[in-house]
Amino acid sequence: MQYKVSVIGLGFVGLSLSSFLASKDIHVIGVDYDKVKISKIISSIPPFYEPKLEYLLKTALKKSFELTDKITSQVVESDFIFICVGTPMKNNGSINLKYIKSSILELGEKLSKSKSKPIIVIKSTVVPNTSEDLVKPLLESLELKESKNFELLSNPEFLREGFAIEDTLNPHAIVIGGKNTLISEKLKKLYLRVYPKYKNFVLTNNSTAELIKYANNSFLATKISFINSIANICQKIPGTNIDDISKAIGLDPRISSQFLKAGPGYGGSCFPKDIQALISFSKNLGYVPQLLTAVHKTNDLQKDVILDIIENNLKTLKNKSIVIFGLAFKENTDDIRESVSIKLIKSLLEKNCKITVSDPKAIENTKKIFGDKISYSSNPINSIPGSDCIVILTPWRDYSLISQSQFLKMKNPLIIDTRRMLNITNKKINYISLGIGK
Ligand code: UGA
Repeated sequence: MQYKVSVIGLGFVGLSLSSFLASKDIHVIGVDYDKVKISKIISSIPPFYEPKLEYLLKTALKKSFELTDKITSQVVESDFIFICVGTPMKNNGSINLKYIKSSILELGEKLSKSKSKPIIVIKSTVVPNTSEDLVKPLLESLELKESKNFELLSNPEFLREGFAIEDTLNPHAIVIGGKNTLISEKLKKLYLRVYPKYKNFVLTNNSTAELIKYANNSFLATKISFINSIANICQKIPGTNIDDISKAIGLDPRISSQFLKAGPGYGGSCFPKDIQALISFSKNLGYVPQLLTAVHKTNDLQKDVILDIIENNLKTLKNKSIVIFGLAFKENTDDIRESVSIKLIKSLLEKNCKITVSDPKAIENTKKIFGDKISYSSNPINSIPGSDCIVILTPWRDYSLISQSQFLKMKNPLIIDTRRMLNITNKKINYISLGIGK
């Protein structure tokens, strides 16, 4: 069978998926309402920084990858239509489903004028019951019937930014939620075409699939808040080392070693929003998930832990020159959404500090927030001379390559390393690592 697939929403998830499927000789139509993004993609330029994406995109474009800025009749004639639009957060922490609604309505309108019966696959992160209580009724409001005019599956995505292609090539699980096993099996068959011999399928119903995504992200966020709590305890006990603790407990197969790196707290477009969405969703059902609330609160407070360390060491913050190494919420991305660096800079500006920032990829995005309120340095080394304090927040490898002599150019060398990346032996440098008691 020659599959025809459409992917609506070309962010990290949609563009990785569509490029991958097209590179595997599946005919793919990519849809995104952002015309600038579409023209970039057509010219093989990834609209955001993501390692290995450019290569995969180029391969896809040489094969069968079409792009459009609206849902066309060809889109509706696809065997599978993946919905990969963003599901941001409202001010009260709950999920904002406006892009799901608008894309489903646009899709439904085209579908109502066609005879085809696509399988609509919700890949966006959505709270449980969204397929059943929102997507299906929206399509029904256009006189479309499930099983007759469309099928509806939930298929959450687990890829990480910065590793989007690696994770797309090697998914740890493929979760397919639906009410009719025969339909779920059809999607499984498509996946087996591009991942021959793949075994880690979990077939379930829609709402369980939707909740699996939140359970997955919440558990990972819990590990991070847990290890950050232990790191903050270490900070108070001279000689203790959080990395040794992570290593030891990570060797226990019941715990596993991943997501046990202490740091400034999790950021990004997923964990902060998903934890809050699940808390809000659960509260609406009458259950207050205390553990998740604590995970979220612990994460929020981690920025203040760092601020306290800076303040305790500098005595006063007023007019101090502080250099921030790392703006992206993690390495290998230019994404600064919910980045702790941005929150910390805001707090430091309120305390009248002078801020210089450096990041290999995220300076342009940061300029959109702070403009000329702060200074920017494309080479981290240039920001060091005369500064009062350097705070390392994103673990870009470049920082570990800076020689100690460079840091001696600071006023009174003080480095606060939230990711424990440097090997500082010079006694003239006050080097404070988060989670290593001094
Ligand atoms: C996360 C999940 O890892 C993906 O599985 C999921 O698909 C994605 O959210 C999503 O829902 O779309 P992502 O936000 O790209 O992926 O980033 P992660 O690599 O998970 O990192 C999240 C944050 O946790 C970063 O700020 C990172 O620095 C921090 N982190 C991660 C730690 O502080 N310690 C760790 O040990 C791991």
